[in-house]
Amino acid sequence: MSQIIVSGGKRLQGSVKISGSKNAALPILAATVLIDESVTIKNVPELRDVNTMLSILQRIGKKVSFEHGVVRIEPGDIIVGTVPYDLVGKMRASFNLFGPLVMACGWAKVGKPGGCNIGQRPVDYHIEGLKQLGIKITEEHGDVHGEIPDMFKSHIEYTLPFRSVGATEQLMTTAALMKGSKIVIKNAAKEPEIVDLQNFLNKAGARISGAGTDTIRIEGVEKLKGTEYRVIPDRIEAGTYLLAGVITRGTVIVEDVVPDHLTALLNALNMMGVKVEIGKNSVKVEASGKLKPVHVSAEPYPGFPTDLQPILTAVLTTVEGESVIEELVFENRFGYVDEINRMGAQIKVKDRRAYIKGIDKLSGTDINAPDIRAAAALVIAGMAADGETTVHNAGHIFRGYEKLREKFMALGAYLRVYPDEE
Ligand code: UD1
Repeated sequence: MSQIIVSGGKRLQGSVKISGSKNAALPILAATVLIDESVTIKNVPELRDVNTMLSILQRIGKKVSFEHGVVRIEPGDIIVGTVPYDLVGKMRASFNLFGPLVMACGWAKVGKPGGCNIGQRPVDYHIEGLKQLGIKITEEHGDVHGEIPDMFKSHIEYTLPFRSVGATEQLMTTAALMKGSKIVIKNAAKEPEIVDLQNFLNKAGARISGAGTDTIRIEGVEKLKGTEYRVIPDRIEAGTYLLAGVITRGTVIVEDVVPDHLTALLNALNMMGVKVEIGKNSVKVEASGKLKPVHVSAEPYPGFPTDLQPILTAVLTTVEGESVIEELVFENRFGYVDEINRMGAQIKVKDRRAYIKGIDKLSGTDINAPDIRAAAALVIAGMAADGETTVHNAGHIFRGYEKLREKFMALGAYLRVYPDEE
């Protein structure tokens, strides 16, 4: 079990280059199943979740290489439609392979991802949507079986019950190869990662429009061709370094970002009184004066991102006055609150709201990380605390942050990782 030991009290100063987006790379890699020519994806972060996705692609028959952020995928001799459960269990995003596998092989069998620490996270919207696309689906012993229909329907319109990121991606990717079909997905998620998936698929020859709005239109094509594509920067990683700058009352610049993707966070920081400077591909924050409490609600994009909710909450524990954070995406994403309260924070959770009373200084202690973003929140809380903070079960963090220790140390933080950084 990994531990991260953070020495508190160091003001972060400097700039950090942001990696490619994990949440954009994963669905793009899943979509490569649809293409039986060479595909090159650049700016892919070297992370545990990416390695899991690449292992799955290899196990189903693709030839894969990954070096210096560049993934090359060559078609194998055969593609099998089964994703082994040990790999689905490791990462929910592996369910994104289900629809593409049905389209590529004619059938697929994928284990249903289980619950996780931030809520139930079922795949019912994926399954219902795929059924609407005409995929024949049965469920047996925790596996989902799918079969391609004999004929594609000419017009399909489906309204998602919630703006689910994964379900929107699943339906867009699957529909891309439904030749002769016109498919409209309504109440689609609008996240930048969905726009990136559309851009990738269109570069490979798909005909998709509307990503970034709540209505996505797909005209199915017969075949996708090999292509080269560069993944967008990781807005959640960028947000984490900016918030680490703020919690330590330092000055941090994130480089190689798309500032527009960070609007909800930057609005919140402005309301708190943080000085924000936006460049073409960079954002600078400076948190020197007294900060103000805020009321922020985590919602689907363009709302404040749920993945930064625990990290913003950590910052607000150090801001005098009462802040309120509402979580409207996941029903149970306050699992880290008891842990951060062990550091002296004063947070009370009621229903989907956290009420945070800012204190002068957190104190370093032993705490346990329940999930990836909570781990990041606890690590940056440690940076602002007196003494040393040991974050146990911290391995989650390597699912989402490339070269975490190196990047934080370059900004002036001090942390040790045991066993060695993954
Ligand atoms: C993606 C991101 C994750 C982020 C989340 C919300 C990836 C790899 N992960 O996850 O980092 O926190 O978007 O921005 O991109 N739901 C259902 N049934 C479904 C699908 C979803 O009930 O079939 C619920 C979920 O339990 C959750 C909500 O809908 O409460 C949103 O989930 P969704 O947007 O699908 O998140 P993911 O795609 O899993």
